[in-house]
Amino acid sequence: MPSLDDPAHSHNAPSVADISPNEPDHLIAACAFSETERAAVYRAIETRRDVRDQFRSDPLPEDLVRRLLEAAHHAPSVGFMQPWNFILVRQAETRDRVWQAFNQANEEAALMFDGGRRAQYQRLKLEGIRKAPLSICITCDTQRGGPVVLGRTHNPATDVYSTVCAVQNLWLAARAEGVGVGWVSIFHEDAIKAILNIPEHVKIVAWLCVGYVDELYDMPELAVKGWRDRLPLDELIFQEGWQTDGKER
Ligand SMILES: Cc1cc2nc3c(=O)[nH]c(=O)nc-3n(C[C@H](O)[C@H](O)[C@H](O)COP(=O)(O)O)c2cc1C
Repeated sequence: MPSLDDPAHSHNAPSVADISPNEPDHLIAACAFSETERAAVYRAIETRRDVRDQFRSDPLPEDLVRRLLEAAHHAPSVGFMQPWNFILVRQAETRDRVWQAFNQANEEAALMFDGGRRAQYQRLKLEGIRKAPLSICITCDTQRGGPVVLGRTHNPATDVYSTVCAVQNLWLAARAEGVGVGWVSIFHEDAIKAILNIPEHVKIVAWLCVGYVDELYDMPELAVKGWRDRLPLDELIFQEGWQTDGKER
């Protein structure tokens, strides 16, 4: 067997047999968090909000933005594909162009609802693109890791699922930092790709408006504004298989 020091071998990943029994196994203790730590995790999850209008205008410090991106980059991903990129957009002119794309799509969206529901839709604020000092466009590179990615072999959408995990990590970390995040998805993807020079094989997963907030709604803004309520969890939990006895949604 070639030695790991052998230059002819050194560019290859070691086989299982190559790994010496003295190598650290990287397993560490996995005890539950302390009560205070657990409470902090659940607090971040339960009080995270989608923010559209409560943004302060002061810029976020670079080290804080870096922590948010590190949190995103620690997300799980199919086959450890890490398909994400984070495009930071601070320039007002670029954000204005993205807002124009949003505005056009939002007018189209309003027409998809009828009567009173349309009027209610038109009263909703559904973005903070120009108000938040930072936007982060989170993308999914469908080609990262080559044509065959472990775990993605039978469901190509898992690359996008992975990127969504990164978004959620960032969103929760931001809540802990006193930073608000608003996800904007109302635009034609090609319009934003053209503004940011994003290549064909890269998908836009999220446009995030990011900025400090002093106040947050204590429930989803869409519930506050009477658009839709949180569903009862018990109606969504099935045992052992899909249930149709009055619980289907
Ligand atoms: C994939 C996705 C896309 C979304 N797109 C928008 C959007 O375009 N505009 C908006 O105002 N909110 C958007 N949201 C935020 C949701 O409206 C919000 O998460 C939901 O109403 C629950 O509120 P909460 O996040 O404050 O708990 C989006 C959320 C997700 C997960």
